[in-house]
Amino acid sequence: MPDLSPILACYPVFDRAGPTPAVVPMSGGLINATFAVGSDHVLQRLHPIFRGEVNLDIAALVPHLHAAGVRVPSIVAARDGRPFVTGLTPVEGIWRLLTRLPGRTLHSVPSPAVARTAAELCARFHGALHGVAHTFAFERPGAHDTELHRSRLHQALARHPSHRFHGDVAALTVGLDRAWLAWGPLPHLPPRIVHGDLKVSNLLFDGDGAATAVLDLDTMAWGTLDIELGDALRSWCNPGREDDPAPRFDVAVGLAALDGYAAAAAAWLTRAELAALPAAAEHIALELSMRFAADALNENYFGWDATRFASRAEHNLVRALNQWGLAQSAAAARSELVAATATLAKRLCLE
Ligand SMILES: Nc1ncnc2c1ncn2[C@@H]1O[C@H](COP(=O)(O)OP(=O)(O)O)[C@@H](O)[C@H]1O
Ligand SMILES: [Mg+2]
Repeated sequence: MPDLSPILACYPVFDRAGPTPAVVPMSGGLINATFAVGSDHVLQRLHPIFRGEVNLDIAALVPHLHAAGVRVPSIVAARDGRPFVTGLTPVEGIWRLLTRLPGRTLHSVPSPAVARTAAELCARFHGALHGVAHTFAFERPGAHDTELHRSRLHQALARHPSHRFHGDVAALTVGLDRAWLAWGPLPHLPPRIVHGDLKVSNLLFDGDGAATAVLDLDTMAWGTLDIELGDALRSWCNPGREDDPAPRFDVAVGLAALDGYAAAAAAWLTRAELAALPAAAEHIALELSMRFAADALNENYFGWDATRFASRAEHNLVRALNQWGLAQSAAAARSELVAATATLAKRLCLE
């Protein structure tokens, strides 16, 4: 546990006399290092993939979310007025202080009812940002450029011909290429400010199971709903872990999510956006499988679990196969989702 007092000293909220609040690591995330500070605050060290400027975007967009009644953490300004602190040797990195929100963190979606409430909250989040003009200070382009990930996979195959998993990855790539080329044309959808990482661990839930808050705003960007909700659905509808050897797409969870989302978004959701959602989880699962398969050959994975896998390559191959199985299961569910969204579009009179 690092001594975080040099960071806390940058925040006037902690100036008041009395005992310094307890700093306790919070589990639940994978990217940033997160600490609860007393009962009212959360301190985070940003993962190096983010720059400090990301906090300027969060600080600019949070008021729009709050104005619409969507609960998200506020960034607490440091003594110099900035939304983050950095360069405080010996404590390295970029740090920010957030308000701590009440609620429980879930790591998987236990029922269609939870998917529905989560999706309704996501719709309110998008609705709050609908029509907002913002130029992002921090951007990470290409995160969901599927053709780019596919070409990186082919490059990895060409670069590592004698890798011990080359044969497995080559066989998987044949399936991925075929599925992706048959998947269909990319939809043309209106740009929106999206969250960028709506996995369920980035929401909070109250004691009755209702979704109450949205966390982890670092990935907000201009994007489209097929990618945003495709990524959410591929994680919400996969009941096991991302390295489970037997993944499946839970259609009941997907249907409840689409139903809840569309109803809560009916005022601004377009017919084309809703029509793009049934194929969206399959798209993102294929893309992730390509990424993990390339990472297997490139021996690249910052979060591999050395207690369960012999190497980064092996863990990545298992993840790539999980997403491939999920994509196939989502493909099998597509017609049922298409029928449900067509009915929804009619019922909600979407344009
Ligand atoms: N403001 C907050 N209020 C309450 N809990 C929080 C808050 N921020 C983060 N957490 C908890 O810490 C976890 C990790 O934070 P998150 O911002 O999602 O970081 P990561 O990018 O590492 O996933 C969350 O899943 C949640 O359990
Ligand atoms: Mg998170």
